[in-house]
Order: sequence, then structure tokens, then C-alpha cells
Amino acid sequence: MIVAVIGGTGVYDAQWLENVTENTIDTPYGKALVLEGRISHIHDPVYFMNRHGLDHSVPPHLVNYRANLFALRSLGVERVVATTAVGSLNVDFEPGTMVLANQFLDFTKARAHTFHQGGPTGVVHTDMTEPYCPYSRHVLQSVAAAREIPCHNGGVYVATEGPRFETPAEIRAFRLLGGDVVGMTGVPEVVLARELGLCYSTVSLVTNFAAGLASAPLTHQEVLEVMAQNVAHLRTVLLNALPALTEPGDCQCQRVPT
Ligand code: HPA
Repeated sequence: MIVAVIGGTGVYDAQWLENVTENTIDTPYGKALVLEGRISHIHDPVYFMNRHGLDHSVPPHLVNYRANLFALRSLGVERVVATTAVGSLNVDFEPGTMVLANQFLDFTKARAHTFHQGGPTGVVHTDMTEPYCPYSRHVLQSVAAAREIPCHNGGVYVATEGPRFETPAEIRAFRLLGGDVVGMTGVPEVVLARELGLCYSTVSLVTNFAAGLASAPLTHQEVLEVMAQNVAHLRTVLLNALPALTEPGDCQCQRVPT
């Protein structure tokens, strides 16, 4: 399978790829910048994009999620692994831990969140029973465990609109609803991927305890610092998982029931 990595906050460089070329892809939703490169022993090209732009200039609510996913699909990508920075709502998920979400709660408000706008193509309701590929999660978890990198397979990702951080009251509510981690970019990315029949999973890195659970106010600087401390772990897990991620595995993600 052809695989793409979408890098989130703190994951900008593509040094892990060889023979990198930069491609700007035109889509019906706008342009998307995609890097294409090679990894030894992997037959197909591997793609990389950063959803915030390579200079981190695009905030979560202004990311062109549709152009990004559409561009990857048009390049023949079949499986996507995305990284995100998250705050933790769960005392067991400490900063520095990776979480492979298996469910999400969507609290975004004003984003282009679907490819399906009715009209001639009809009304489409995409199944979200299993939004995150179980095979990819298993591979990522196994690779992390073999290297003693803390990683939880399963967790509920709460997506907020941002770009502000949450209030402690919101975090208390999200905890009551079963949320484990909170971030600003996981939705609609996962939804759009599923609509396109892409197999999709997320590696979320916990950078902080969420608002009200930590003693000090949150800063973006803190998020960036903890990301920087752990980016080597993320890269290790992704790179070592890639060979198995190019295998189909037992994943049913590309059969999209509607
Ligand atoms: N909230 C939302 N997004 C985040 C956080 C947070 O606490 N940390 C990193 N991304």
C-alpha cells in the first residue's frame, strides 16, 4: 500500500526520506504541498505533508483539510498515519506518552468537514464505527513497545475548534463524556480520510495535562518544547512501522460502507 505521513505540530522535517521532491498538488479545494521521497526496502514512494505548513504558519481552524486529503488520494495514497500534539485528560496518559486514538468526539464548529455536499452525487452518510485503522494501530503499538516507548493503543480523542486552549470547565465536561486526549486537528481530518476510503490512524503525542489538570496556565511554547523532546520517539516509531504499514494487513478501511 502507498503510505503518507501527515506531520502535526513539531513534525516538519522529511530528513527520514531520501530523494525528496516537493510537489504542489492542485485540487478542487485548493493547493496542497506534498513531499515525495523514498525509504530503502519500500518499493513505492512515501509521501509527507505537514498540515500546518512547513513553517507552522497555518492554525488548526484554517488548515485546508479537504485539499490535503484529496491531494494524497489523487497521488494514489491508500494509508495515512498522522501525528498530533494533544493535551491529556487521563492521568494515566502523561506528557511524553503516545496515544493511538480508536474513537473521537467532535467539538469543532466551523470547518469544511465533508466532501459530500449532496446534489448529483447524492446524499452520503459515511460509517464511523471504526474511524482509526486497527491494523495500523497494532503495528504502531508493537513497534513502540519493542523500543520501550510509552504508547497506549486506544483512547478517545476530543477535537476542539481552537485556536484557543480549553477552559477547565470544558475539560471537566470532556472527561465526563469519556475523552482521554484533546487536540485541535484530528477532526475533520479523520472524517475526510474515511470519506475518501483512506485507511487512517493517528499517533498523538501528549505534550501537557489539559487545562485545569495542570497547576500552571498552558502555553503553545510548552507544547512545542515537549514535542521537541519527543519528536525522536515519534520518528523512530513511524520509520520502523512504515515497512509493515505498506502491507495491507487485515484492514477493511478501504471498504467504505455508506
Ligand atoms: N488542548 C488542545 N490542543 C492541544 C493541547 C491542549 O491541551 N495540547 C496540545 N494540543
